[in-house]
Parts: sequence; structure tokens; C-alpha cells
Amino acid sequence: MADHADANRAHFDTVADSYDSTHGGGQIQHKILHALLAVPGVEWDDETTSLLEFACGTGLMSQKLAQYVQRIVGIDISARMVDVFNGKARNQGIPEDEMSAYAFDLLQHGVDAAPVPLRAQFDVVVVSMAYHHLPDIAAATATLAACLRPGGWLLVVDLLWKAELFEVFTAAKAARAARALPEDLADSEYMRALDTVSHVGGIRREDALAALESAGLTACSVTQALSIDRELPARLVPAGVDVSAVSLPSADPAKVVLRFPVFVAAGQR
Ligand SMILES: C[S@@+](CC[C@H](N)C(=O)[O-])C[C@H]1O[C@@H](n2cnc3c(N)ncnc32)[C@H](O)[C@@H]1O
Repeated sequence: MADHADANRAHFDTVADSYDSTHGGGQIQHKILHALLAVPGVEWDDETTSLLEFACGTGLMSQKLAQYVQRIVGIDISARMVDVFNGKARNQGIPEDEMSAYAFDLLQHGVDAAPVPLRAQFDVVVVSMAYHHLPDIAAATATLAACLRPGGWLLVVDLLWKAELFEVFTAAKAARAARALPEDLADSEYMRALDTVSHVGGIRREDALAALESAGLTACSVTQALSIDRELPARLVPAGVDVSAVSLPSADPAKVVLRFPVFVAAGQR
């Protein structure tokens, strides 16, 4: 598990400076924002709400949420992603006590070892597009639930399980292992990113729900809320793998546009 965390740290440190431009500069997070604001029962108040964004990355999600909360703490395993997060906040003139991120391995070291108080501090904890990187989502959920004040909400946005997507990416990894993937792709950022993913093909609805419930949260729900389209080189799809059920027509035959279903999971402490 530590190896997996190290792989994530190393990968996201490497891609941090280009992350925003290669990830749509916040377009996806704009869609996610509306899905988060639509979760019933969660109170967003720009004068009182304290938010923890776990696995905050460069802050694409926190930037969208900033106007709905009083204070944001970000935590991420990658120091370079955190540097970008804080650089943007400082450039915008946002004071450190209103929006700051910290590089810390929360899941390894625990809530009470964090560089800022986390235990029972937050009205909302958001995790966006990071659960599929975490080997043990039940343990992660229990740790994050401990950061909530009584009555606070954990909101997790991530890729919903899709067997066809599992098949594509598992086949690509197998092709690389068999040296059947073109060399430029075998060593591409796509494949390096895939190596940081614990849940290839996404997370099953029942597993997300079980993680929330076993963390002692109530009013738990997991809802498919949106989809994300990602353009990839068509050569990444090994011959014989049918992606018609999960792809969109692409004007460029060298590309394939894959559609990923995305869920919002919610639970209250
Ligand atoms: C796909 S990015 C999403 C970033 C951000 N939440 C967003 O929506 O733009 C995944 C993030 O999870 C972080 N991450 C991966 N494993 C982690 C772990 N074990 N603890 C904390 N952060 C982790 C990575 O460093 C990276 O910033």
C-alpha cells in the first residue's frame, strides 16, 4: 500500500505544473460543483462552512467551492500539487487562514499527526476524483469521517464501475506487459497515470455505499450524477477490445473518446 502511495506521490509531483492545462483547466470541476451543490441536506454558507478537500491536487475543485465556504484546508500526498494549489490561492490574494493546502500522507499517518487540526473540524469533506487512486476506500472513508463535525457531510465524487472500461485498461496493461503496446505509448503519461490507479474500471456503487456505512455515516447515498469524456490515442485500445458501449464518435480516427460515468456519494456524521 505504501508503494502505491509512493507511486501516486511521484507521479503527481511530476505532472503538477502541467496538471491544470492537461485536465481541462476546471471544466470537469464545474460540472462536479453543480452535482455537489445539489446533494440534499448539505449547508453551504460562505460565512461559516469549513471545508476539507482531501487529495486536493492543484485546487481545481477547491477553487470552484471557495465562494460557497468560509475556509478551505487541502490535504494531498504530492508536495508539488500542493505548491500549485497554494500558489494559485496566494496569487488571488486569499489569506492563508482561508485557503491553504498541506502535503501530508493522511491515510498512512492518521488524523492526529496532521500539520493542522483535522479531527472533528469540518462541516464538509470533499474528495473529488481521487478514490480510484486509494487501495482501501473503506479505511480512507473512516479516516475522513473522523474529520467531520457532528452533522457534517462527506461528499465523494469518483468514477463509477464500468466493466467495458475495466476491460480496455486491463487489456492495455496486459499488452504493455507482453511488449505488444507501441513503445511510445508503453512509456506514455497515459500509462504512467494508469499505474497510479487502484480501481481500474471505477468503483462499484455497493462498495462506495459500504465504505460510507462502515464509517458510521448516516443518510448515505451513491448516485450517478454526471459523466466525463476523455480523449485518448486509439492505439491504446488493444485489437479485439470493443469500446463501442463506452465511447463517443470521434472526428479524428487516431483518437478514441471514452465516456466515464461519475457518482456522487454522500454520508452525514
Ligand atoms: C486525479 S487527481 C485529483 C485532484 C483534485 N481532487 C481535482 O479534482 O482536481 C488525484 C489526486 O489524489 C492525490 N492522491 C493520490 N493518492 C493519495 C493519497 N494516498 N493521499 C492523499 N492524496 C492522494 C494525488 O496526489 C492527486 O493530487
